[in-house]
Amino acid sequence: MVLVAPSLLAADLGNIQQQIKLVEKAGADWLHFDIMDGHFVPNLSFGPDFVRQLRPLSKLFFDVHIMVENPLQFLPMFYDSGADMITFHYEAAPDINKVIKELKKHNIKVGISVKPRTSVEVLQPFLGDIDNILIMTVEPGFGGQSFMDNQLEKIASAKQMIANLPITLEVDGGINPQTAESCVQKGANVLVAGSAIFKSPNPDLIIKQMQNLRRK
Ligand code: DX5
Ligand code: ZN
Repeated sequence: MVLVAPSLLAADLGNIQQQIKLVEKAGADWLHFDIMDGHFVPNLSFGPDFVRQLRPLSKLFFDVHIMVENPLQFLPMFYDSGADMITFHYEAAPDINKVIKELKKHNIKVGISVKPRTSVEVLQPFLGDIDNILIMTVEPGFGGQSFMDNQLEKIASAKQMIANLPITLEVDGGINPQTAESCVQKGANVLVAGSAIFKSPNPDLIIKQMQNLRRK
């Protein structure tokens, strides 16, 4: 089963309620929130209030991707935001176990993300404690970038590492039905897509095409 997580970074924020309804109607599984601090990535996006204010508007799983330096200091701002899962970056957290512990304490699922230049093997020590691995298939910071197919082998290695553990394997960046196909073949089962969905004349079709992908 492949899950699709539309990234709101690419949505028409002036009509955010209508955009959420659109992807819900199309059968989206998660909503992906890209939080950026202008330090860890050279861009600014949304804060915890964006998540908090959208919570009452949707029952979808809120998948919050925080691209921030030292995530520990920001976590408290998200505890009551309605985030179902927070995925932070391996490269940004001096004390990974502390971030994991804090999230669990507040009943928020835990994801760790690696940038393209970081090998996924660094996550081995944490596999017993996390719910999600997020493989970036672009340099984080902006939507609308091209998919980096040199990340495909990393997806396969992550799949091997996870084996039968209850951990989702999420990919993010330049994902569309074509690039998603290769990712699913390597073992990805959650697909984040921003521009492919929100810039499409037919988001419904895009979401359905990606959900119907199967590992052969
Ligand atoms: C990039 C974000 C991605 C991005 C995806 O730093 O983490 O979630 O919004 O956008 P597309 O699908 O347009 O590459
Ligand atoms: Zn993201």
